[in-house]
Amino acid sequence: MKTDLQIKNAAEIETECLVVAVVDKGDKDKSIASVLTSERPLQDAAQELIALGELSGKALELAMLYRPAGIKARRVLFVGGGKEGKFNPNELRKIAGAAARHLKSKNIRSLAIALPSGVHFHTDNAIRAAVIGVLIADFDPDIYKSDRKDQRLQSLTIVAPSGNDEKLLRSALEEARIIGESQNFARELVNEPGNRLTPMILGERARTMAAETGLHCEVLGPDQIKALKMGAFWSVAQGSDEPPALIVLKYAPAGASGPVLGLVGKAITFDTGGISIKPADGMEKMKYDMAGGAAMLGAMRAVAQLKPKVKVNAVICASENMPSGKAQKPGDVQIAMSGKSIEIINTDAEGRLVLADGLTYARTKLGCTHLVDAATLTGACVVALGMVNAGIFANDDSMYERFQKALHQAGEKMWRLPLDDEYRDNIKSNIADMVNSGGRYGGAVTAAMFLKEFVDDKPWIHLDIAGTAWIDEAKPFIAKGPSGIAVRSLIEFVRGFETQT
Ligand code: BES
Ligand code: MN
Ligand code: ZN
Repeated sequence: MKTDLQIKNAAEIETECLVVAVVDKGDKDKSIASVLTSERPLQDAAQELIALGELSGKALELAMLYRPAGIKARRVLFVGGGKEGKFNPNELRKIAGAAARHLKSKNIRSLAIALPSGVHFHTDNAIRAAVIGVLIADFDPDIYKSDRKDQRLQSLTIVAPSGNDEKLLRSALEEARIIGESQNFARELVNEPGNRLTPMILGERARTMAAETGLHCEVLGPDQIKALKMGAFWSVAQGSDEPPALIVLKYAPAGASGPVLGLVGKAITFDTGGISIKPADGMEKMKYDMAGGAAMLGAMRAVAQLKPKVKVNAVICASENMPSGKAQKPGDVQIAMSGKSIEIINTDAEGRLVLADGLTYARTKLGCTHLVDAATLTGACVVALGMVNAGIFANDDSMYERFQKALHQAGEKMWRLPLDDEYRDNIKSNIADMVNSGGRYGGAVTAAMFLKEFVDDKPWIHLDIAGTAWIDEAKPFIAKGPSGIAVRSLIEFVRGFETQT
């Protein structure tokens, strides 16, 4: 998709479709539609729709006009943004996405978005929201349909009122393109089925991305994983005929001092459960069990291009989790890279095993001072928070506050869950330092408590994205399928550490 910026009146733009936001400035009893533009022809064009009650400003409501008077666009699409008081860049991102998906469904492949006027946020934030919204909306998961038609958007024009600093707006647009494309990069990976994205293939995809963006990349295979004494990681990988991959990406810009961030991702390219095998029903979804790793790859892809002054490493633990004659068994005891021993209760609690060694590697081999992991870790997190919020855990309040700020900037939702010492009792073992499953109660928390055993004293954030990495029902602004959750927040989180010069 081509993107471009025009600083002039939206009514003067020649385009297939001009998208204009409308909010509701009424109260709960009566809605009063208000078109977010200062341009008279656009306001006039909406008048009749508003008078007839076809346009009220309700969230994501759509109304299309053809060749309205005094406007150069072939069509004008008004899109509702909800209550005026709640209108923010997140709503604008959804408007842009809903408009793009609506137009795509009608085979209209170019659009222009008039940035809203009279709103409380800055034009550069509006640009970021609009561009990311359209990029996210342009992603379709149906890539293996044999009769698939190319439905991608061809061009997006952002129209900003005059009086804006063009340089600032152009850089916001470029930044948004990098962020949106990186989220889609993660979604493409998550969308791939297990047979087409094995651990080694994921390693190749990471390598290609790294070469394109200038990141340092190493992919360690079975021999190196064993040589590093990654007994927890290996215990998951040993049951599969597909070799595991430890993918390591490094970003070290000149002039960065201070913290070294470590992004550790779970990338189980297919999770059968192993010997503690999962029920057949819905098992096909377990191809998305690599979404945490994909999120880290997406974030690194953006970091490499946005070039913040902060050192960042990513460690992605890629493996299948399979039952076989070589698979680990319940009752087995494994020694993790850190030296801690783990009694395997349930081979389906494999994510925490690969992450245990990924976290240790980031800390002890890469010198990471701050750790973040992302994983589709527990069904219990889905039970607790549903598909709206991801779970977030932190052993350090200031890390949590940094991440919360990043969530806000990125417009993603996560809810903090506890890590009280009392939960440690649930992962006690009779034979080893800990068990790998704390049972049904508080399952998202006890999984996080397990990971905590491997971060030592490092400030650490754990993201459980099991409920949010896959969208079961399409929304107006995003297709069903992989969501790309966490990519944008991780990018903002990294930028928050930038060395000030
Ligand atoms: N990959 C699953 C978690 C999951 C569940 C992701 C649903 C996405 C949707 C994970 O490896 C797993 O199987 N966890 C077990 C842990 C249990 C055995 C302690 C679970 O949640 O049931
Ligand atoms: Mn599992
Ligand atoms: Zn899993």
